[in-house]
Amino acid sequence: MIITIDGPSGVGKGTIARITSESVGFNYLDSGAMYRALALFADLHGIQKEDDKRLKKLLIDFHIRFIKEDGKEKVFINSDDVTEDIRTNEISTLASKFAVNETIRGVLRQMQRRLVKNKNYVAEGRDMGTYVFPGAEYKFYLDADPAIRANRRALQLKEMLGININETKVLEEITKRDKLDMTRSVCPLHPADDAVIIDTSILSIDDVVKKVESVVKNNA
Ligand code: C5P
Repeated sequence: MIITIDGPSGVGKGTIARITSESVGFNYLDSGAMYRALALFADLHGIQKEDDKRLKKLLIDFHIRFIKEDGKEKVFINSDDVTEDIRTNEISTLASKFAVNETIRGVLRQMQRRLVKNKNYVAEGRDMGTYVFPGAEYKFYLDADPAIRANRRALQLKEMLGININETKVLEEITKRDKLDMTRSVCPLHPADDAVIIDTSILSIDDVVKKVESVVKNNA
């Protein structure tokens, strides 16, 4: 069974998806981490998002693995631990730029479907319920006021990487990223027609998790 959770940056999807996956006993797919890792990998090789020929070759050598260590989910590209490297603001922006490339999306989509096949997953991202798993049993789309999302994202960066970042700058970046994600021609971010839409602006994490769980339990 697949539960999809989509929505823009800073809306709390990662936290909600992780908690929900634990409470229902499903695996967790962080598709954003795949876009981030690929952007980092391409950047390290000096490859631009328009360079389809080199990207295709690079994708052959791109093996991403999610490994749970001491209760923490770690991300590896081949044998390198990139868990923290992919969380910077620079990589957030770069990931959105690479995410407009159709070749990349096609390969990552295949990887996501292969990973999830015949298993129970909570899949989180921008296009999980719309383009990657259109037949998912439960679909959620989380949204929130951009200023609130910027505040959450700044707190997250402080917690995760110890970085103090100006919230106004984060808001600018989030706004740019939203625009890029929502207006790209391939798999733009939008709610699936059959998604339950939750505005998380004034809800606690606990409130949102309860809402998600109640939809799943009431329809199970
Ligand atoms: O969710 P996260 O902030 O980690 O995603 C980083 C970027 O990766 C997004 O801004 C988006 O451009 C891209 N992405 C995507 N499709 C997904 C997940 C992420 O295009 N399913």
